[in-house]
Amino acid sequence: MEEESELGKVDMPSDNESCLTAKLCTAGAYNVSGSFACADDAYPQTQKVLKLAKHSVFGDKRFLRRWINPYLEKIFSIPDRLIDDSDKNLTNILSERSSEFKETFIEPCSGSGAHLIELARSNPEAFFVGFEKRYKRAFRTAEKSDGLKNLLVIRGEVDLSLFKDSSTAGVYLNFPDPWEKNQKNRVLNKIFIDELSRILAPNGFFSYKTDHKDSFESAKIALRERFLITNLIENASKEESGFQTEFEGLFRSKNLPIFVLRVKQNRSN
Ligand SMILES: C[S@@+](CC[C@H](N)C(=O)[O-])C[C@H]1O[C@@H](n2cnc3c(N)ncnc32)[C@H](O)[C@@H]1O
Repeated sequence: MEEESELGKVDMPSDNESCLTAKLCTAGAYNVSGSFACADDAYPQTQKVLKLAKHSVFGDKRFLRRWINPYLEKIFSIPDRLIDDSDKNLTNILSERSSEFKETFIEPCSGSGAHLIELARSNPEAFFVGFEKRYKRAFRTAEKSDGLKNLLVIRGEVDLSLFKDSSTAGVYLNFPDPWEKNQKNRVLNKIFIDELSRILAPNGFFSYKTDHKDSFESAKIALRERFLITNLIENASKEESGFQTEFEGLFRSKNLPIFVLRVKQNRSN
């Protein structure tokens, strides 16, 4: 049996030797060198199944050798445009690459990269850095941006602490996951705002788009304390919103309102 998931196509066991192995497979478990791991978005589910597996005859690691997420290895195949956040040299690489360009822009949660690629194509003199925690989406972005020398995707959690003070001309955050149940996991949290204020250049801006009213309201309050609001639109039209990202297209097709907030740095040096 074949099943398609974020991990690509995988062979499912045909007998009932192991419904646990099958569950591990769909949860994203893989095993390259004898150790268990999983794609980060499948992590909680996989850990739960692994706990069960430990107490069963199907917990034998040999069962898992076949299940491999291809993107865990593929992400190392385009080093010019894609780098994993486990790379110890990340800060130096970022600093060196950005010094080759006039300005640096960042897009956390860049997804499959349509917006990041469009920005990089239309501004060859600036450097664009995306952060995307999903392996497949990060890889797709790098793959699609063939020929662009001014784009780098970091496969991993957003981390603005990697950038120097006042080093960044703009940050775009489009439709990050709202984390309704656990707000402290939201990307746009206090640490993010503190770092944003530190890394933005004197005229730097932050552009935020969401379909989630609650996240929009809390962002508005938190950002207002530190920055100057330059644009605030509830229920933005396509024209008002500008470039339509993949998820924006999806939300618009469901007639969800789009909220747009743009602020700029509130200091002159
Ligand atoms: C709703 S999608 C939006 C993607 C894209 N910005 C768009 O508008 O089409 C949110 C994306 O953010 C990524 N993401 C969520 N939290 C993240 C984090 N802390 N660090 C990096 N990526 C994250 C998810 O994997 C997902 O691809």
